[in-house]
Amino acid sequence: MRIITILPILSRQKSPSRLGVLCYNGRMDTATRRGGVFLTPLHFAEKAYEYLESTLGKDWYQSGDYRLWDMAAGTGHLEHFLPKDALKYCYLSTLEQKDVEHLRQKFPSATVFQYNYLDDDVAELFKKSGGHFRMSGWRKPPGESEPNRPKPGGLRPPLMQNDLANPQIKWIILVNPPYATAQEAGLKGASKSGVSDTKIRKQMHAEHLGEVSRELYVQFLYRIMHEFQHRETLLGLFSPLKYLISTNYQKFRDNVFHAAFQSGFVFSSDNFGGTSKTSHFPVAFILWEMPASPSPARAQDLAQGKRYSAPPWDSEPPPDVQPPRQGQENRVRDDDILLPLQGGNNCNGIANPEHCPGLGLMPLTGRILYEDTVVQKKREPIEIQLDILDTAAQKIGIKTVKPENRNDFLSRWIKRPRATVIFPPFGSALTIKSDNVDTRNRIAEDFLASLMCPGNELQNQQQTAFLSGPQASAGALSVTPDNFEQAVIVFAARRVPKDTWLNHVDQLLRPNRELSPQFIGDCAVWSLFDNKNQTVALRNVEYQNRVYQIVNHFFPFPMEEVMKAGNAAQRSDRINRHENSFVADWLTKQTLSVEAQAVLTITREIYRLFFTNWDVLPRAEFGIETDDAGWYQIRQTLLHAKLGADLLSDLKHRHDQLRETILPQLYNYGIVN
Ligand SMILES: C[S@@+](CC[C@H](N)C(=O)[O-])C[C@H]1O[C@@H](n2cnc3c(N)ncnc32)[C@H](O)[C@@H]1O
Repeated sequence: MRIITILPILSRQKSPSRLGVLCYNGRMDTATRRGGVFLTPLHFAEKAYEYLESTLGKDWYQSGDYRLWDMAAGTGHLEHFLPKDALKYCYLSTLEQKDVEHLRQKFPSATVFQYNYLDDDVAELFKKSGGHFRMSGWRKPPGESEPNRPKPGGLRPPLMQNDLANPQIKWIILVNPPYATAQEAGLKGASKSGVSDTKIRKQMHAEHLGEVSRELYVQFLYRIMHEFQHRETLLGLFSPLKYLISTNYQKFRDNVFHAAFQSGFVFSSDNFGGTSKTSHFPVAFILWEMPASPSPARAQDLAQGKRYSAPPWDSEPPPDVQPPRQGQENRVRDDDILLPLQGGNNCNGIANPEHCPGLGLMPLTGRILYEDTVVQKKREPIEIQLDILDTAAQKIGIKTVKPENRNDFLSRWIKRPRATVIFPPFGSALTIKSDNVDTRNRIAEDFLASLMCPGNELQNQQQTAFLSGPQASAGALSVTPDNFEQAVIVFAARRVPKDTWLNHVDQLLRPNRELSPQFIGDCAVWSLFDNKNQTVALRNVEYQNRVYQIVNHFFPFPMEEVMKAGNAAQRSDRINRHENSFVADWLTKQTLSVEAQAVLTITREIYRLFFTNWDVLPRAEFGIETDDAGWYQIRQTLLHAKLGADLLSDLKHRHDQLRETILPQLYNYGIVN
């Protein structure tokens, strides 16, 4: 279900063109990275402000009803494009004192203060939900007089405390929080050590939100949700997309993140200076409206321009909501959300929850079960559409973003046979790796190869390979005749699409219908001659006091053809195998596209070249002793001997053409989104 609520008061208004763009006399900080901190590139900050204006209208600040808070303001890139007259309604807080000083110079009419959003006043905020933190005292800003000291416990300036306590005030949260993960190496610096293990993180742990609480931006979002869910708020958030699409965040989405989508855009993380081009990911700016779903009564109020007076939830429970029966135990499942019964509270917009009698019923924690609590089924996934912006912040398309059900993942579609037989574990194509702490050294009966395939997102493209034994670390499965066809589809789905910043975190999905035999055959041929097919043949491999023969079940051609190539009799030490490999037999039964046939034609020539030069090639370096050598071994040997360069380059061309044939079908079958 797509939740879109457009409040009339937030609708676009016509206003005079923006004349008030600030020119600062102070330092103009245009760099996008400073001391390990990523600053929003200014043209994306400007774009964000354009989106905000198109939701609120250009003169949103003129009524004096709005307050804007950036609680990770850094050097204030996000506020750079705010009209001068709006600044007196702005609260800018940030972690580091030197940034605070910079902000004070740059935005003299804004209220600037040092504030650790993940630690300060957390006790105050979570007091009602059993929060167990000691409250700390207010730090007096230089020049601030004592009488301005806020109520005990508050570290925010008195002006802001008053605004937070005023239900008439509407809020704009404009923020680009840090994206680091709590225990990442980059967090050792003085500026970050204090935020890695925060009170907010502890509170998230107490709510069993799991791994997601390691992400600092999610910690910010968690607190924002608790602090502003019941205030009329427009949240403009820069962040990665994981909180919206990753399955790990399901509980966070169900229990914590409740907001209605307004608009937004997505751009590449490599626009932030100093980031890696190879590990890029999508960064989104999204405008969210809170509370997520105003009740019909509230919607009516809003239409009449009234302020909050009714609960934000529908006064009638939706059809699938059933109050627990009398006397029945109120057991809430993991995927349940707690809602108050009709008339449960009237506390929206009341800043100090202590004074709100019905607060106990609000899903502040989502876990406290009251007698008159109703249970609602899991929320529908949010599907949203974001504008795609290029590096110049120009729109180049639209991306649909939605969380996928774990059961639809391609990684769940492939059968995983039980691995019971001990076999030498592979670290790479030719290396047996037995020194892992947690070595995986078992294969299934009928083993053909193992498929290394951890994760289910395209960002794992490089962690994809076929190996001729179990992969030493976790994240691989045995390929057998039973799942071979699925294995080549999974391999091709992970390797054929180019991993770009835009699809980097997209999930691969199970096919939406039966696959055509030609598509399966094409995926097999493409996979067999991809560089990550690292299946090999090795002789006399010792492992745990036993000697193993590693047979290449992925050899692509019938043995008869091999015998004809070169002088077979001279290949004296070849294994005495006259049977075809599993794959050679399988391939003879397939109907293939012209492009796949072209790949087989050129590879036949390459194999012929290899066998013709059997005696002169540096085979030992690649462990080749037998005819059923793997594609990896053959290719490496030829490259090493500088033989067949033309054929290999021709193969690359044809292999790419086959990729072009497969790619649209991956989209068509819904495997790639
Ligand atoms: C991604 S930068 C964004 C800075 C700036 N708003 C911009 O867009 O360029 C995140 C900022 O959050 C600040 N920060 C990190 N942890 C914080 C915390 N716990 N409370 C407040 N600010 C924090 C950092 O110092 C940094 O300046």
